[in-house]
Amino acid sequence: MLDFLNKKIYFVGGKGGVGKSTTSAALALLLSKQGKKVLLVSTDPAHNTGDLFHINMYGEITSVRTSLDVLEINSEKETLRYINGVKDNIKGLVKSTMLDEVHRQIDLAAASPGAEEAALFDRITSLILETIHQYDSIVFDTAPTGHTIRLLTLPELMGVWMDGLLDRRKKINKNYAEWMNDGEPVEDPIYEKLIERKDRFMEVRDYLLNHNQTEYLFVLNAERLPILETKKAIETLYQHKIHVHTLVVNKVIPDKADGQFMEKRRENEKVYLHEIQDVFANKRVLLLPLLDRDISSFEDLEAFTINLESCLLAGREQHR
Ligand SMILES: Nc1ncnc2c1ncn2[C@@H]1O[C@H](COP(=O)(O)OP(=O)(O)O)[C@@H](O)[C@H]1O
Ligand SMILES: [Mg+2]
Repeated sequence: MLDFLNKKIYFVGGKGGVGKSTTSAALALLLSKQGKKVLLVSTDPAHNTGDLFHINMYGEITSVRTSLDVLEINSEKETLRYINGVKDNIKGLVKSTMLDEVHRQIDLAAASPGAEEAALFDRITSLILETIHQYDSIVFDTAPTGHTIRLLTLPELMGVWMDGLLDRRKKINKNYAEWMNDGEPVEDPIYEKLIERKDRFMEVRDYLLNHNQTEYLFVLNAERLPILETKKAIETLYQHKIHVHTLVVNKVIPDKADGQFMEKRRENEKVYLHEIQDVFANKRVLLLPLLDRDISSFEDLEAFTINLESCLLAGREQHR
């Protein structure tokens, strides 16, 4: 049906509470119903994906129905895993007398801002590079906007940071060679490791920037702040060469909602819906109705998914 449903990777972003997790779960469900093998990954620390599928998850990939697996990433655990990985890498590379000091430095780095994102990004990187071949699609339900943007722009930042590290490493190596080895170049396993990591970042970056493979969608509500925030987020991502083509405007007051109060709310909403059409004129805008209850069960999720599907179909009609 649509190009939109033929992507390998989806990132779903937006402010907290607008409906990212619901939309991600619905998209994953829809893709799986189309016969695709799908992995839904939640990177939001406030997970509720497991609840939607009535399943307890323990940070592992869990099958929730035929051709649909779910993974909730626990960022604290990821940071620990990441740090232990770094320590493992270093083992054998530094003198044992230095090990304590090196570990102390690594632990300090682990507590610094950004370490959690680096760890999360590392996990996303390995999911993309190592797991993608087992699935037709991976849907990433991301944390609220600011976080997502930092995450998605990380390969670029990491690239710069890596280059800095590599440069420093080269210099140290040169000095070392001059002092110890009468100028003969020495083998440097740390340098090799850094290069290896850089290559991985570059590879994942290729995925993230390939718009035939990766789709970014933003979820928002027809209200002033989500519109502003979405606009800003889309611009920032654009600067990093990431193009957002699809917006889900969720919780739109349905026609059948009646009463004076609802009429007033609808009038108010209309203004914002027009604004959305204006501000995001060149994007695919999907309007999803507010349901009469929270989406907390699989049955509710199915109802939401049917709405998403019919919106996509209607969109296709419009585009013809
Ligand atoms: N269309 C909708 N109709 C009714 N409730 C909704 C709708 N979309 C989302 N919700 C509810 O809104 C809340 C926030 O949704 P969620 O998907 O968790 O947002 P996010 O992941 O962006 O924080 C949840 O309680 C969810 O059940
Ligand atoms: Mg969420």
